[in-house]
Amino acid sequence: MSKRLYFFDTTLRDGEQVPGCQLDIPEKLLIAKELELLGVDIIESGFPVSSPGDFKAVQLISNMIKKTTVCGLTRAVENDIIVAAQALKNAVNGRIHTGIGTSESHIKFKLKSTQEEIIERGVKAVKFARNLVPEVEFYAEDAGRTDNEFLARVTESMIDAGATIINIPDTTGYCLPHQYGEKIAYLMNNVPNIDKAILSTHCHNDLGMATANSVAGIMAGARQVECTINGIGERAGNTSLEEVAMILSQHKHIGLSHKIDSTMLTSMSKLIEEKMNMPVQPNKAIVGGNAFSHSSGIHQDGVIKNRETYEIIDPADVGAKGSEIILTARSGRAALHYHAKKLGYTLSVNELNDSYESFLELADNERNIEDKHLVELFEQVEA
Ligand code: KIV
Ligand code: ZN
Repeated sequence: MSKRLYFFDTTLRDGEQVPGCQLDIPEKLLIAKELELLGVDIIESGFPVSSPGDFKAVQLISNMIKKTTVCGLTRAVENDIIVAAQALKNAVNGRIHTGIGTSESHIKFKLKSTQEEIIERGVKAVKFARNLVPEVEFYAEDAGRTDNEFLARVTESMIDAGATIINIPDTTGYCLPHQYGEKIAYLMNNVPNIDKAILSTHCHNDLGMATANSVAGIMAGARQVECTINGIGERAGNTSLEEVAMILSQHKHIGLSHKIDSTMLTSMSKLIEEKMNMPVQPNKAIVGGNAFSHSSGIHQDGVIKNRETYEIIDPADVGAKGSEIILTARSGRAALHYHAKKLGYTLSVNELNDSYESFLELADNERNIEDKHLVELFEQVEA
């Protein structure tokens, strides 16, 4: 089995459909350029039939991007596919991402159809797209809640029709990691022509398990991961690119290579936060403001002695500015001493003890301890 994992970024499609995250065309071009520099393998740049603006964005991104595959989303509808192919015309490698719902609920309530008809519609769309672009990816929407035996039939038929990437979305973020992993394993073991395609994960975060599910899928044999910067996406979001990239570098035994330049993760996160007007929660893994901040005395003491006691990632590896020792009423003497030294004060043991008492009084009342507070405090004990 291949040892390479392909990163498929859908920030500009699944991410951009989030209310309030809309981008103008120059912003989309800037982000696409940065995604290429970051090292993603595929940029899903939009849903061309959805609006003239999205068509134009996919077209201009296709003209501009030099190495990365550019992808456009469609439904399993001929006109969607024609429009997407037009938008992708100048892409160095253009990919159409077409598909249809496969779960019982999608087939019955949304599509008012039957399993046989769904396979027929999917096959027709894949064959049609295959004549227009070099690469076709098929998505089995709501695969997370689709019966595995039917999903295997769908997968086999779409590969026969010419799809070389089969996306298994957990559209509603329903699966548990072991269930999603077993789903991918089932397809790997029960689809006779699976060697002619790769499986892709596309996991939503409704139960907070998007990244865990993606990793379970990867460990079971998926070789493409669909994700977004900062995990933005429909509802509770999508799998976060930075989390998957750092999981692979922290757990090298998984044994998959990729092209992501992790030192760009922090700047990429800030770019998306700013352009999409979507603040990143401070406790977000990898790129949150507190990801490398230490505020309790026990942790601070450890980090001051050796960063690795409480940090598994070197902040430099993700382009973050460094570990921070934040002073709060839970901080200890080691942290206060560390800040005194940073501000140029050499305190004796007695001075440190005295300033620590005053510091605790201050910290109980002040939410943010700033350098100016500390200078005042140290000046008093030194006086
Ligand atoms: O979540 C999903 O199922 C999707 C598909 C359109 C790929 O975003
Ligand atoms: Zn999605």
